[in-house]
Amino acid sequence: MKIKAQGDIGKWISVGGKHFYPAYIIKGTEKNLMIDTGINMMGPAYVASLVKIFGDQNALDYVFATHSHFDHLGAIPYLKRKLPFLKVGAAGRVGHLMKKQSVLDRMTALSELQRLLFQEIVGEEDVRIEAVDFEFDLKEGDRFDLGGITCEVYEVPGHTGDSLAFFIPEIRALFAGEACGIPEGDKDSDVQVEFLSSYDDYVASLEKLIRLQPRLLGMGHMWVFTDDDATGFLRQSLEATPRYRKLIETCLDAANGDMDVAVQIMTTKEYDEKGTILQPRESYVENLKAQVRQVAAIAAR
Ligand SMILES: [Fe+2]
Repeated sequence: MKIKAQGDIGKWISVGGKHFYPAYIIKGTEKNLMIDTGINMMGPAYVASLVKIFGDQNALDYVFATHSHFDHLGAIPYLKRKLPFLKVGAAGRVGHLMKKQSVLDRMTALSELQRLLFQEIVGEEDVRIEAVDFEFDLKEGDRFDLGGITCEVYEVPGHTGDSLAFFIPEIRALFAGEACGIPEGDKDSDVQVEFLSSYDDYVASLEKLIRLQPRLLGMGHMWVFTDDDATGFLRQSLEATPRYRKLIETCLDAANGDMDVAVQIMTTKEYDEKGTILQPRESYVENLKAQVRQVAAIAAR
């Protein structure tokens, strides 16, 4: 089944915020963990969800981020200001990036493009993205006992070099950010392919995720896949990847190898004409440039 990422999903999982920027709240009997935090302007919505779920926002112990994109960890600085005991974790590189002013400025600029949509959530709150300390430098094989359930950490590079997946083996629930692609449009067969840092790593990471055989897959945006559809989506995503690479190769050929022209051709065809990609156009183009570079590099080797 494909269900909207919202509300309670079984005994152990609730979704904070809104389905387009879900914060997965994993409720152990001893510790509570949030996986990903959307953009900075969602911060107040996550705090409201925590109060609704636990009666107290400080019941949240940990926040882990799947990767260093602004729409997956943007609200961490806000949450750290609001929840003084909160401990946050991500791949080591992420903690480093979240101290670099140029990175924080870029994240702020990308978030500001969406401000109008979030004015109601933000109100008078201070949602600035500022440098923060990450308490955990997460690595493959790390395990966190939450009481009754465990969070296991897997390194799944390819979307970004710092992508992590979190797996709860007791309930076979997997949260992998965009290491597993994004469902695109209404047709369940369409997958938006997301290799940005490395094509080969992305494919290897998808194979690794498939081996976990999840029965629940919490997507980075919008959806949760359950039962057979969890691993099923990962398989679709793996199959879509070489097809998408071919499409980029075709555009590169049509552009005589000019990467900027190839990006223009792809954007017209895939984003403008299809109209099924929900991501803001600017983010789409930025990601596409990285993908075209990847495919051009493969062709050159
Ligand atoms: Fe991402």
